[in-house]
Amino acid sequence: MNEITIGLMTVEDVDAVHAIETMCFRTPWSRKSFYHEVTENECARYVVVRENGVAIAYAGMWFVLNEAHITNIAVHPQYRGKGYGRMVTEALIQLAADSGMTWMTLEVRRTNTVAQSLYHSLGFIDVGYRKRYYENQEDALIMALEQLPEGNPDNDPMLVRE
Ligand SMILES: CC(C)(COP(=O)(O)OP(=O)(O)OC[C@H]1O[C@@H](n2cnc3c(N)ncnc32)[C@H](O)[C@@H]1OP(=O)(O)O)[C@@H](O)C(=O)NCCC(=O)NCCS
Repeated sequence: MNEITIGLMTVEDVDAVHAIETMCFRTPWSRKSFYHEVTENECARYVVVRENGVAIAYAGMWFVLNEAHITNIAVHPQYRGKGYGRMVTEALIQLAADSGMTWMTLEVRRTNTVAQSLYHSLGFIDVGYRKRYYENQEDALIMALEQLPEGNPDNDPMLVRE
């Protein structure tokens, strides 16, 4: 039976996360970037969903003062439409709240209606556009979540980075 778990990303997840990244994005982050995020960037937090210990979805953010800015969210193409995108994003939002953040922001391609639908369903609102933000000159839609759930830091195992 397949075991699904969720937790903070570690160096053991870097290869699988980078593989998903290259399948999902036209200008993927490098393996080195993810390694840096989990080993050196004190402002970064990444959550992964694992199947039998192997990452199948991930979501990351940077803490800037009281804002959590989402850097990337992706689900392995073979695992989409099964709730893992929602699961990993909800966990990221709760981790932001538990870490004392008060709001979240992200950028998403104007044409990426699947991701926008997910974010809208979680309470994100549209706040503006960054014109020609992406490599193909596509605009970025800026979205924000202005109210986070109540933080529960005493009960969040992901608050401690390994
Ligand atoms: C966006 C993404 C993370 C969603 O992950 P997922 O696991 O497929 O999504 P879930 O199964 O958890 O569904 C969550 C919501 O996403 C939306 N969604 C998912 N698949 C959809 C589809 N085929 N069409 C329209 N909306 C869809 C729905 O709002 C859905 O909520 P619902 O099930 O209540 O209708 C995934 O499609 C992905 O990795 N895309 C490529 C990378 C990407 O675009 N990342 C976002 C960059 S900002």
